[in-house]
Amino acid sequence: MNDVSLAPPDNARFAGGAAYARGGFVPMAEATISVLDWGFTRSDVTYDVVHVRHGGFFRLEDHLDRFSTSMRKRRLAPPEDRARMEEILHQCVALTGLRDAYVAMLCARGRPRVGGSRKLSDCDNHFMAYAIPWIDVLTPEVQERGGHLWIASVPRIPDASFDPTIKNYMWGDLTTGLMEAQDEGYDTVVLCDAAGLLTEGPGFNVFVVKDGRVSTPAHGSLGGITKKSVLELCAMEGIPAAVEDIPRALLEDADEVFLATTAGGVMPISRVGKRIMGNDRPGPLSSRLKDAYWRKHAEGWHSTPVRYELAMP
Ligand SMILES: Cc1ncc(COP(=O)(O)O)c(C=O)c1O
Repeated sequence: MNDVSLAPPDNARFAGGAAYARGGFVPMAEATISVLDWGFTRSDVTYDVVHVRHGGFFRLEDHLDRFSTSMRKRRLAPPEDRARMEEILHQCVALTGLRDAYVAMLCARGRPRVGGSRKLSDCDNHFMAYAIPWIDVLTPEVQERGGHLWIASVPRIPDASFDPTIKNYMWGDLTTGLMEAQDEGYDTVVLCDAAGLLTEGPGFNVFVVKDGRVSTPAHGSLGGITKKSVLELCAMEGIPAAVEDIPRALLEDADEVFLATTAGGVMPISRVGKRIMGNDRPGPLSSRLKDAYWRKHAEGWHSTPVRYELAMP
């Protein structure tokens, strides 16, 4: 476990978060992007998010691997190499002094040097990163009672149109789902594909539990690092688990459902659509996996200590 307790950096400038943009470190509010950047106008950008818990990054190598793959698939190549990106992530967290943080890295296409150009080679790709205080996709109170999950009427964009294993900001379908969920008074939403198979939701993978067996979709979703962790925990705990196609009917008939994401970990669901599961509280297997997830964090599982000394001048 990393137990360094350095005083927070001299300034309150970074209290709300620290960012790396255009080659320098700035307070969060100063991390901006041009309105002409394709990262904004075409969502031509990929990103990744890793969390810091108890002063250590969780599965940093896995996140950097996924980010590298996403950049390669989108032909994005910023000037910073992987070692430098890693150092920047450490420095962003170090500047904030945060022990628990949400840390994002992204690479955008950039603004074309030639106005109106459609040539990718006219853009200088650029890397940005930031560390901000911890974020939960579902608030701790909602996690405690179990989230209420709406099933969207809008289908998830097909894998053939955009590879969902590339982490992206093209959330049109997910946001439409959120509109429906919020109109109906639900906490969040999950989408099925056009064939009615379960995919994922805005910022998380989904798991269903049926007769003591855990499963999560094989397609239509990000290769989540939390999902990977949950599958490892299932193996450690002797819980049968599978990655497979999950028809909507199975979701609607599940004994338990839970969500998995870097921004909140394992988050139990107590209602799916109009259906109330169990006793309207988090189910036993979901709770067991949630506890195991955080217990392993406290033990330093897959943890890389943040180099807080990088905050010092
Ligand atoms: C669409 C989507 N699916 C799944 C996830 C979960 O991935 P991870 O566990 O790596 O955070 C995320 C994370 O933000 C996401 O945006």
